[in-house]
Amino acid sequence: MDRAALLGLSRLFALWAALLALFPGGAQGNWMWLGIASFGVPEKLGCTNLPLNSRQKELCKRKPYLLPSIREGARLGIQECRSQFRHERWNCQVATAAAAAPPGTSPLFGYELSSGTKETAFIYAVMAAGLVHSVTRSCSAGNMTECSCDTTLQNGGSASEGWHWGGCSDDVQYGMWFSRKFLDSPIRNTTGKESKVLLAMNLHNNEAGRQAVAKLMSVDCRCHGVSGSCAVKTCWKTMSSFEKIGHLLKDKYENSIQVSDKIKRKMRRRDKDQRKVPIHKDDLLYVNKSPNYCVEDKKLGIPGTQGRECNRTSEGADGCNLLCCGRGYNTHVVRHVERCECKFIWCCYVRCRRCESMTDVHTCK
Ligand SMILES: *[C@@H]1O[C@H](CO)[C@@H](O)[C@H](O)[C@H]1NC(C)=O
Ligand SMILES: *[C@@H]1O[C@H](CO)[C@@H](O)[C@H](O)[C@H]1NC(C)=O
Ligand SMILES: *[C@@H]1O[C@H](CO)[C@@H](O)[C@H](O)[C@H]1NC(C)=O
Repeated sequence: MDRAALLGLSRLFALWAALLALFPGGAQGNWMWLGIASFGVPEKLGCTNLPLNSRQKELCKRKPYLLPSIREGARLGIQECRSQFRHERWNCQVATAAAAAPPGTSPLFGYELSSGTKETAFIYAVMAAGLVHSVTRSCSAGNMTECSCDTTLQNGGSASEGWHWGGCSDDVQYGMWFSRKFLDSPIRNTTGKESKVLLAMNLHNNEAGRQAVAKLMSVDCRCHGVSGSCAVKTCWKTMSSFEKIGHLLKDKYENSIQVSDKIKRKMRRRDKDQRKVPIHKDDLLYVNKSPNYCVEDKKLGIPGTQGRECNRTSEGADGCNLLCCGRGYNTHVVRHVERCECKFIWCCYVRCRRCESMTDVHTCK
């Protein structure tokens, strides 16, 4: 094993140990795979050395060629979570493991993964969606023997409307299957009703994430014909950008449904007056109310908003009032120097001036 791999391995164990220390018990194995995102080349480490639970390790050993997609899926999900929440109190940058994690590894999610809140719901959904997206991309790229472009569409189309299916249509079926297989651990005999309800919640939200990918499939076409007349079109199905999927899931997060912590045959709304309103498989569900994420709580791994940059004029979540939870903010002046008023001088160079500007930066107290 080369040095880089060894370094990766030692980091991995440190991170892993930190996570295990934070979440003793059995149910944590479901999300440890997120740690894969911080490793350069997980293939080099082999399935047994990766932060996977035993079921995932089995699957990994049978399909090691999927490791790059697994890592890419984790990366996509984490990146999209941070992007969607960058202006909010909870910004998906949870410090939990940060204190314990070795330098160079990124802080992973802490409290939010086991707390059964809306944030938990979003993380599970976006990660499950990320896995579908990355595996499907890999299928379409022809990197996989078990899946490829959607072949059911070949030769179809409508001659009278002047289009036919062609090119490579993304086929999400294999990605959906793999995401389920890899992430959805069966609800086993768990002690206590609460963990059972949390497991059911996570499973539901995993599926909601996958449904978002399927729902946002769209059709792209290319024109053919004399001088761009578009007499004939070739069309193919394609997944939306992961950003779009993230947006949809953020919307689902904002409209997420609180369910009862008393598990019956299936999950029910907590609000008794609303019990008749059906729960759809693409809804996000949560059990527990979220904390306000205002102040640091080391035990729960909540970093708080102190020191976060806020926008003085915004009325939204990024505004100083909301983001700083009414504690007020500090203002400092930041000097920017940049090249400006650049002119092209014949021939051949560019001459610029140096411009200075001052901007106020506000950070929460
Ligand atoms: C497909 O495989 C090639 C070569 O291994 C790799 O460079 C590329 O990133 C892969 N593409 C996808 C979408 O997985
Ligand atoms: C599952 O739970 C039942 C009743 O709670 C118990 O009798 C049984 O031994 C448990 N099985 C396992 C594998 O823990
Ligand atoms: C601050 O918020 C205002 C109003 O929403 C917006 O127009 C402006 O671009 C924001 N400034 C920054 C630096 O994001």
